[in-house]
Amino acid sequence: MTGETTHNLRGDYSGMRPDYTVDQAWSAYTPEEHALWRRLYARQAALVPRYACREFIDSLAALDFGDAIPRFDAVNPKLARATNWRIVAVPGLLPDRAFFEHLAHRRFPVTVWLRTPAEFDYIVEPDVFHDFFGHVPLLFDPVFADYLQAYGKGGLKADALGAIEMLSRLYWYTVEFGLIATPAGVRAYGAGILSSGGELPYCIESDAPNRIGFDLLRIMRTRYKIDTFQETYFVIRDFRELFEATAPDFTPYYAELSHREPILPGAVLATDPVVRSEPPSANT
Ligand code: PHE
Ligand code: CO
Repeated sequence: MTGETTHNLRGDYSGMRPDYTVDQAWSAYTPEEHALWRRLYARQAALVPRYACREFIDSLAALDFGDAIPRFDAVNPKLARATNWRIVAVPGLLPDRAFFEHLAHRRFPVTVWLRTPAEFDYIVEPDVFHDFFGHVPLLFDPVFADYLQAYGKGGLKADALGAIEMLSRLYWYTVEFGLIATPAGVRAYGAGILSSGGELPYCIESDAPNRIGFDLLRIMRTRYKIDTFQETYFVIRDFRELFEATAPDFTPYYAELSHREPILPGAVLATDPVVRSEPPSANT
C-alpha cells in the first residue's frame, strides 16, 4: 500500500538498511505464528477457486505455501525465472519514495510480521499474510509484473509533480482492490480483497458496492476509505488493458485533474459503465 503516513506504524524500523530492507529472520517465527498462518491460508485458499482470477489461482497452486510462513529466499529463484522480480523483507509500510524505488527495480517489499490471532478477520495495516498471499502470486504474471514496475517509475515521477495522491488512487483501485472481467464472470485480482476473508465474497456477490468499468482518469479522481469494505470497485478487461491505459505520460492528466473535484468513494456518475456481477456457479 502507499499514500499513507508512516506515523505510529507497527514493526521494528530500528535495524533496517537505508533502503528500508531487513532480514526476514524466518527462524524467529513461533510455532503459534506458523499455526495462525496455516489457518489464514486455509480460509483464503478455500475461497480463491470461486472468486479469484485464473492467473492468481494458478500461481497459488504452483507455489503451495500453505504449511508455514514462507521463506522469502525460497520463492525468489522461482520469481526470478518467471518475471525477474524478487521480494525483499521490510519492517512494514514504507515512505512513498522508498516504496516506488523498490517497485521501479522489480523488488516487491513484503512485511515480515504476522498479525495477532485477534486480527484473524480484520487488519488495517498490511502484514506478511496480506503482502505475501495477496501480492506475490500475481508477480508471476508477466504483464501484471510489468505494470507494477511501470507504476513504481510513475510514482517517482508523480512525486516530482506533486501528484502522489492521484497516483495512489490508481494503486488502490487496481493492485489492492481491482476486479477483472473473465469469461466465467467478474473475479478479483486485487491483493486487499484476495487476502480478506470477508471482502473476497463481498466484492463479487454483494449488491451493495458499485462495479464500474476501468477508467484511468475517473479512478485518479476517486477517493477511497482504508477501514471498511470498498463502496466502489473498478473492473478491467485484462492486464493488457491496465498496462496500455497507463503507458502514456501522466503529466497532462495530472494537470487536468488538479482543477477537478475529487469523486466520493460511493458515487456513481451518469457516465459510469456499470458492470454486472453474478454469483459464481457451484462448479467454478
Ligand atoms: N505512464 C505513467 C506516467 O508517465 C506512469 C505509470 C505507469 C503510472 C503505470 C502508473 C502505472 O506517469
Ligand atoms: Co497491499
